[in-house]
Amino acid sequence: MSQEFDVVVIGGGPAGYVAAIRASQLGLKTACCESEAYADPKGEPRLGGTCLNVGCIPSKALLHSSELYDQASHSFVMHGIKADNVTIDVPSMIKRKDNIVTQLVTGIKSLFKKYKVTFLPGHGSFVASVDGKWQVKVGEEVVTTTHVIVATGSSARHLPGIPVDQQLVVDNIGALNISAVPKRLGVIGAGVIGLEMSSVWKRLGSEVTILEAMPDFLAAADANVAKEAWKIFTSKQGLKIQMGVQIKEVTPKKKTVVIKYENDEGDQTLEVDKLIVAVGRVPNTAGLNAEAVGLALDERGRIAVDHHCATNLPNVWAVGDVVPGPMLAHKGMEEGVMVAERIAGQGTTLNHDTIPWVIYTHPEIAWVGKTEQELKAANIPYKNGQIPFLANGRALGQGDTTGFVKVIAHAETDQILGVHVIGTNASELIAEAVVAMEFGGASEDLARTCHAHPTLSEAMHEAALAVDKRSLHF
Ligand code: FAD
Ligand code: NAI
Repeated sequence: MSQEFDVVVIGGGPAGYVAAIRASQLGLKTACCESEAYADPKGEPRLGGTCLNVGCIPSKALLHSSELYDQASHSFVMHGIKADNVTIDVPSMIKRKDNIVTQLVTGIKSLFKKYKVTFLPGHGSFVASVDGKWQVKVGEEVVTTTHVIVATGSSARHLPGIPVDQQLVVDNIGALNISAVPKRLGVIGAGVIGLEMSSVWKRLGSEVTILEAMPDFLAAADANVAKEAWKIFTSKQGLKIQMGVQIKEVTPKKKTVVIKYENDEGDQTLEVDKLIVAVGRVPNTAGLNAEAVGLALDERGRIAVDHHCATNLPNVWAVGDVVPGPMLAHKGMEEGVMVAERIAGQGTTLNHDTIPWVIYTHPEIAWVGKTEQELKAANIPYKNGQIPFLANGRALGQGDTTGFVKVIAHAETDQILGVHVIGTNASELIAEAVVAMEFGGASEDLARTCHAHPTLSEAMHEAALAVDKRSLHF
C-alpha cells in the first residue's frame, strides 16, 4: 500500500523545506521530496535547493572571503596594520565555502528528523487526482496525499548559441567553483549575480568586464542608489560595465572565450579567460507532469497562483521561485509558512510589498518598498530624507563612510513608502525599515525611536528626521 500523507512538498529548497517543517509543526503528516539536482558525491539528493547549494550561501561565503582579502590588501594600512604580501589560496577559499554548504544542508536533514518530516529522495511529479486525493510519484514510488505544495524553484537561464560547459563558460554553479583567479573575466548580465560574482573576482585580482543589455544600470533600484553604485563600482573599484550591448556571438577557444557584441560605438570583440552568464533564471516546471493534470502556468512559464499561493487545482499550492514575484529565498520561505498555515486552517497572509531586496556587493545595497521613480510615475506625493554615512560616527570609526540612507514617506500621511540604503551592513540595516513598514509606520515613528549610539543604524534615524527637515547631525 502506498504511503499516505496530509502534505507532500515537491522540492527541498528554502520555500519547500520551510513549508514542510511548518506543516509538520502544525500536526500535518508531511513529506518532502528532492531530486538529484544538487546530489552529494555519492549521488544522494541534498536538501537546501539553489539557495544553500549554489546560491545565497556559497556566494556570500565567497563574497566575505574576498572582502577580507581586499581589506587586508588595501584597507588595513589606514588602521596602521601592515599586511605585506597578502596572497589568496583559492582552493582553500572554495573548500571553506563547500564546508559551509555541507554543514547547512546536513542541518536541514536534522531539522526534518527533529520536526518529523519524511524525506523522500527522488524526483517528484503528479500522477493523478483520485477520490479527492493526489497521487504523486517520487522516484519509482507513488505516494498519496491530500495537499501538494510545489516548490521546485528555478534554474539559470542560458542564452541560445552560448553553451555553458561550467569550465570556460559558467552559470551560477560554475561561477561558485572557479579554482584560480581568472586574469580576464567576462560577465554577461549586470544583475544581482553578475555584480556579486564580479565583486568576488575583481577583489581577487581579475580584470572584469560586464556586458549588460539594458540601457539603465540597476533599473530596479532607486535612481540615486543606482547612480552612487555605478560611480563606486566603475570609478573606485574598476569594474568595466558596458550598458546597452547586444551579444552577437560567443566562441569558446581552447583556453579563452571570444565574445562578439555590439554597443553604441559599433561592433566590439572581447577575449576573456572565463565567462559568467548571469541573465536571470527560469522556473522549474518541466518534469512535473503539470500539463497532464491541468496545472496552469502563466505566460512566463511560472505556476499561476493567487495571492495565497493557491493554484488552479484543488489542494495544490505553489511557492518560491516557481511562482511570480521576486526570486528571493526569504520570499519563498514566507510563502512556504503561509501555505502550511493556510492548509492547517489558519488565515495567514503575506505582505508582498515589504519584501526586502539586498545586493551583497561592497557597499551593500538594500531596499524595501517603492523607489522615487516609481512614486513619481504613480503620481504619489512624497517627501524624503537622505543622510550620508559620512555624517555617522560609527562609519567613520570603521573607516568606511561610503553611501547613504534614504527614507521616503507620503507627503500627507507621513507613512513610510520606501527605504533605500547603500553602504556597509545595508543588509542588516534594512530590517528595521521592513518592520516599520510592516506595521504601517510613519517616518515620525522611526524618528522618535531611540537608536543606540554609536551605530550605523543612527543613519536610519537621522534620515527619518531629515524627512521632516530636522536631522541633528547633518
Ligand atoms: P530552489 O532553491 O531552486 O529549490 C528548489 C528545489 O526543488 C531544488 O533543490 C530542486 O532540485 C528541487 N526540484 C526541482 N524539481 C523537482 C522535482 N520535480 N522533484 C523533486 N525536487 C525537485 N536569494 C536571496 O534571498 N538572497 C541571496 O543572497 C541570494 N543569492 C543568490 C545567489 C545566487 C548565485 C543564486 C543563483 C540565487 C540567489 N538567491 C538569493 C535566490 C535564491 O537562491 C532563490 O530565490 C531560492 O533558492 C528559491 O527557493 P525555492 O525553494 O523556491 O527554489
Ligand atoms: P537578474 O535578473 O538580476 O539580472 C540579469 C541581468 O541580465 C539583467 O540586468 C538583464 O537585463 C541582463 N540580461 C538579460 N539578457 C541579456 C543578454 N542577452 N545580454 C546581456 N544582458 C542580459 O538575474 P541574475 O543576476 O541572473 O539573478 C537571478 C535572480 O537570482 C535574481 O533576480 C534574484 O532574484 C536572485 N538573486 C538574488 C541575490 C540576492 O538576493 N542578493 C543574489 C543573486 C541572485
